[in-house]
Amino acid sequence: MKDTALDARLMSAAGFVRQGAIFADIGTDHAHLPVFLLESGKIERAVLSDVNEGPLASARRNIEHYGYSDRVTLRLCDGAEELSGLGVTDYAICGMGGELIRDIIARAPHLAEVGIRLILQPMTKQSTLREYLFGAGFAILSERYSYADGKYYVTMVAEYWGERKSVDPISLELGMMPDKDGGRVEYIGYLEVKLRAYKRALAGKARGGEDTTDEQTMIEAIEERINEIRGSIQ
Ligand SMILES: C[S@@+](CC[C@H](N)C(=O)[O-])C[C@H]1O[C@@H](n2cnc3c(N)ncnc32)[C@H](O)[C@@H]1O
Repeated sequence: MKDTALDARLMSAAGFVRQGAIFADIGTDHAHLPVFLLESGKIERAVLSDVNEGPLASARRNIEHYGYSDRVTLRLCDGAEELSGLGVTDYAICGMGGELIRDIIARAPHLAEVGIRLILQPMTKQSTLREYLFGAGFAILSERYSYADGKYYVTMVAEYWGERKSVDPISLELGMMPDKDGGRVEYIGYLEVKLRAYKRALAGKARGGEDTTDEQTMIEAIEERINEIRGSIQ
């Protein structure tokens, strides 16, 4: 059997892809995610894009190696710019910063359509991405947490529904409570990392005699959320 196993981070993204999808992987690099989805029979075909030639060449080699060239289209392009009109139903944008993911979505109006699914895995600035999504008329349907290579990750699934929302900073920072299969233990780990960062920021500000109200409020909210999840998995 061919080894196309994914790590927990990309497995979270794979879990959000719909059965029978026409799948696009933006910033595909090695093409691990689409190869896994083709091998497992979850997707019909795939469109892979990358802005850099090296990663796209690596994707092409992998696709050829697994014998999927006839079901895959490759595009050297920035974001989703050349991916409209290809019938894609589910787009993944994984392993990039939250601001870059936001900019890629903002530059591609064909992603803001009812029924199109976005699977997003921001490495940084998750709250910035959530704020953009809510403000641009997307709903975040679910979030899952994972742990791989010593780090915690969040993966979100969003769809356009046209209603713009303004969401408070605590909800943007903490994200959605994952469902019972959505990595609740990993979510605790993810929040604990955040908690330590806010405690360090608070200590730094306190030393400089600055106001620490925002950090204190966030620390309390994170601790409350951690207790809530612990209660839900006992
Ligand atoms: C860290 S890799 C992530 C690979 C894979 N998506 C994953 O999650 O494992 C980021 C990839 O995104 C590509 N990339 C960066 N900016 C991009 C953009 N604006 N449009 C398309 N691809 C981009 C990079 O060339 C690189 O191959």
